[in-house]
Amino acid sequence: MTFTEAFNVRTPNTRALFERAKRTIPGGAGSTARLPRNGWNPSPLFMAEGTGSRLVDVDGNSYIDYLLGLGPMILGHRHPGVTAAVQRAIADYGTCFGLPYELEIEAAEKVVAAVPGIEQVRFTNSGSEAVGTAVRLARATTGRRLIVRFEGHYHGWQDTVYWSNHVDVDLAGPADHPRPVAMGPGVPAELGGTLEVLTWNDPDSFVKLMDRRGDEVAAVLTEPAVFNTGCILPEPGYLELLRSETRKHGAMLIFDEVITGFRFARGGAQEWFGVLPDLTTLAKGLGGGFPVAAVGGTTEAMRLVAAGKYSHSGTYNANVVQCAAVSATMDVLAQPGLYERQRALGYRLAEGLSTLAAERGLDAYVEGLGTVFQLWFADGPIRNWRDAVAHADEQLFTRWYQEMLLRGVLFHPLQFENLFVSLVHDDRDIDETLNAAADALSVVATGRRAVHTA
Ligand SMILES: Cc1ncc(COP(=O)(O)O)c(C=O)c1O
Repeated sequence: MTFTEAFNVRTPNTRALFERAKRTIPGGAGSTARLPRNGWNPSPLFMAEGTGSRLVDVDGNSYIDYLLGLGPMILGHRHPGVTAAVQRAIADYGTCFGLPYELEIEAAEKVVAAVPGIEQVRFTNSGSEAVGTAVRLARATTGRRLIVRFEGHYHGWQDTVYWSNHVDVDLAGPADHPRPVAMGPGVPAELGGTLEVLTWNDPDSFVKLMDRRGDEVAAVLTEPAVFNTGCILPEPGYLELLRSETRKHGAMLIFDEVITGFRFARGGAQEWFGVLPDLTTLAKGLGGGFPVAAVGGTTEAMRLVAAGKYSHSGTYNANVVQCAAVSATMDVLAQPGLYERQRALGYRLAEGLSTLAAERGLDAYVEGLGTVFQLWFADGPIRNWRDAVAHADEQLFTRWYQEMLLRGVLFHPLQFENLFVSLVHDDRDIDETLNAAADALSVVATGRRAVHTA
């Protein structure tokens, strides 16, 4: 039986809902990232409910969840403490005032206490909004226009940054001096002139660019560890170089910590790697599954916002649901030993997968930081997008995803995404996942077709 046949046998209700959804929701799902063309073949699964580390779909199939809503469910689904705090806040206060209130200060104070590079913070609604704010604020602060960003990184869908993510390298030109390529129709081509796009983890091209155009650069925008091209960690000294060169040339450094924030350390990648940016964007993870994002930075970096000269606005900014969720999430994340325990659990899974793949003769390795990682099916090391294009075997990864899905383990179908381990996954989840993986990787290694329909 092929994967599609096995999937269809298991998911009659999903398929009926997908057909119904397509009549009123373009493509049948609320985000383009959830469509078949983005890997969810033959259709996205329709979910019934989630609890902790587990999901159940509308056909009653249950899954150990490593998709985690693409990252936000850092505390698992329906964390009782956060859910109760949000319910209480709505009952006690309401949802939205269009004016400040004390719980907002409490939430901000807790984020400032957690993230070392943040002295002041504003809440907003999505990672894309937070990045858009940070980029414009850097331009306003420096009076410069140029943004440096890197191929393979994703910073949301705003026109200013929706460039050169998973770019066709034939269009992008040479690795030591790529051309910016818009990631879809509708992005004004002239914005390409406001960007310099570089190959990540390549100190030479970065230093050369800063030598040439450093005094025009408003900001260098980077994921401090890349989680939008599978997982790629910064090589030793690279983040430090971004920091020292931006300082030297009077440019700002923006860490887009939408994924890395609170993920493998409470203070995010900046705590983990010990490099502090001027501005930080946060989202997934910040609200324990509730929709909230933030842009924060040093008091100096936020000075135009404080003075009201830079208008960071938004009707729903810092609404009650957001601030209650942030405040309660920050309390959970502050529990002593939590990150150490969950990183160890994640490493056990990652190492287990590595070993299973090696035992089956697969060219595969794991890169990551415990609570988020990727199993690369690759025939060479991957340090940036160009390497990923050259070495990753996307089809093999998708075969693995398919075999795991049929065995009740869910993660994103594409090689260039990653696996998230929440702070409530436990040993039983990891044991069951490794058991499933032993079987699934055997099927993948022998090139057998999907036969498992349990
Ligand atoms: C690093 C990074 N920045 C920004 C965004 C955009 O966030 P949102 O989807 O909340 O707009 C994402 C989303 O995946 C992301 O991974």
